[in-house]
Amino acid sequence: MTNLSESIFVSGTHVEYSLALIGAGSLSNVDLDACYRLIEETSRADYEASTTGWKPIKKIAEMKSPELRYILVKSPEGSVCGFTSLMPTYEEGEPVVYCYEIHLKAELQRTGLGRLLMTFLESAAAHTPPIEKIMLTCFLRNQNALAFYKSFGFAEDPISPVPKKLRYGREFIPDYVIMSKNVKRKAGSGVQDQSL
Ligand SMILES: CC(C)(COP(=O)(O)OP(=O)(O)OC[C@H]1O[C@@H](n2cnc3c(N)ncnc32)[C@H](O)[C@@H]1OP(=O)(O)O)[C@@H](O)C(=O)NCCC(=O)NCCS
Repeated sequence: MTNLSESIFVSGTHVEYSLALIGAGSLSNVDLDACYRLIEETSRADYEASTTGWKPIKKIAEMKSPELRYILVKSPEGSVCGFTSLMPTYEEGEPVVYCYEIHLKAELQRTGLGRLLMTFLESAAAHTPPIEKIMLTCFLRNQNALAFYKSFGFAEDPISPVPKKLRYGREFIPDYVIMSKNVKRKAGSGVQDQSL
């Protein structure tokens, strides 16, 4: 994995944020904790309303998975204001990049920063053959994120769960959707040409 290191001005602010790509193994405890708190801030209510539930120990263990890469957005003071985490992996035997998380502090939402992170993720996937697809999971109640992903051309993946009739008249109604998008390969397609 090569290193991403950039500075960006976010529209509507006069603050220069830094962007850095690092592996989970190199994430400091302070940054890991800041990422965890950000997920809690933006999404705890969605987890609590779901069948998954909000499970801090499980979430932190997942966040430490050594194969995860983080793109951290930091303020000039060095605090994490946003991040995305991703993993090159296999899904149903297909090589994919799985986007695990993408979260921004409230004041940085709807500034185009989410688009920048997603563009970087797409570019990294495009420069990492044989990856052909980007995948992610989103709670159905998170309508803002669904609109965000759809604006990039993500659509429901064939492996996404569908409502099912169970035994004894019970029913399974999924509260999340698995979305995907095929990788487009072209030269100079992103913020910075970067493989994972
Ligand atoms: C989801 C998130 C990362 C998106 O990043 P963002 O910086 O807010 O989004 P952007 O400003 O880059 O938006 C890019 C495009 O996505 C679409 N979009 C983004 N938010 C939207 C919303 N709330 N409603 C409708 N469309 C939306 C628009 O098409 C937008 O383009 P436009 O601004 O030209 O209209 C950010 O809002 C966030 O951190 N939300 C809370 C955490 C979260 O829900 N994470 C996802 C967990 S699955």
